[in-house]
Amino acid sequence: MPDVTAGAAASNPHIARYQARGLKGRILSGVQPTGNLHLGNYLGAIRNFARLQSDYECLYCVVDMHAITVWQDPAQLGSQTREIASAFLAAGVDGRKHIIFNQSMVPEHAQLAWIFNCVARLGWMNRMTQFKEKAGKDRENVSLGLYAYPALMAADILIYKATHVPVGEDQKQHLELTRDIAIKFNNDYAAPDFFPVTEPLIFGAATRVMSLRDGTKKMSKSDPSDFSRINLTDDADAIAGKIRRAKTDPHPMPETASEAEKRPDADNLLGIYAALADMEKDAVIFEFAGKQFSEFKSALTELAVDKLGPVGAEMQRLMKDPGHVDTVLKDGAQRARAIAAPILEEVYRTVGFLKP
Ligand code: TRP
Repeated sequence: MPDVTAGAAASNPHIARYQARGLKGRILSGVQPTGNLHLGNYLGAIRNFARLQSDYECLYCVVDMHAITVWQDPAQLGSQTREIASAFLAAGVDGRKHIIFNQSMVPEHAQLAWIFNCVARLGWMNRMTQFKEKAGKDRENVSLGLYAYPALMAADILIYKATHVPVGEDQKQHLELTRDIAIKFNNDYAAPDFFPVTEPLIFGAATRVMSLRDGTKKMSKSDPSDFSRINLTDDADAIAGKIRRAKTDPHPMPETASEAEKRPDADNLLGIYAALADMEKDAVIFEFAGKQFSEFKSALTELAVDKLGPVGAEMQRLMKDPGHVDTVLKDGAQRARAIAAPILEEVYRTVGFLKP
């Protein structure tokens, strides 16, 4: 469960509407369909999506329009989109009670994004560290979409007036920008409280899962070694093999948290164990203190197979049933549009566009 619900003021009219219905707010989150999902995506995002369902009204979006900010093979994009939707379902998101959809089926995202392109300042965009990292030295040659990406993300959130967004470390700055855009829009158009100033929901242990081959690097789908990550669709044998080969150091298991911190490979495996077992990392350190890595690794394997096996199997099953997944997405998109269209309509009137 979330550790922190950053100061959601009771005076916030957007949140108050949900509180009146016994809910804490409305959530929107998005995942890009750009390749295989791994343990980091699961523990850092998707698993939490399921856990938020009882307290929030939730919209979970496969952000295919974000994906094409770098070229995606058109022959793959559809199945990648279904794979993410399958992961949401396999992780336990209820697509009937809540909304699972893909971004490009709800054109209001793009329409609001244009308006936000006109609200956001170049100076704000220039500060985005993710853009700087992704563009690297080849800045002149990346797409304009990659640069504008955070304004589209703000539109994803605010087209539903979402009050909360679950975020990992790497998306915090984009959520800050979303807040700045909401505040500036509300000011520029003298529409106080029109858009909510969206609150981040920050999760505890293991929002950062590191590579199994190098505990100082993030687990990543683009690492050339498949042994660096556990894919959500890995079977029990693959999971066991990867944990067995995971990098460790020559010492027994750390005895204290401060010792673990100095040993990144051990620390990463302990963090993964804690997240999978829903335990505090300190308790895991205490349990395995001074033991051999081999003993810890067999416990971790058993735990990982137990927790991830059913999710992977359900994903595999759903991916063999694209018709079903497409129905979920289409139905979700219809219900998402029913929320988004009237909000876009209000935005258009607010900025002064003529009614057709
Ligand atoms: N930028 C996010 C990522 O790369 C994906 C995303 C797009 C998103 N729109 C969003 C996340 C809205 C949360 C809310 O992971």
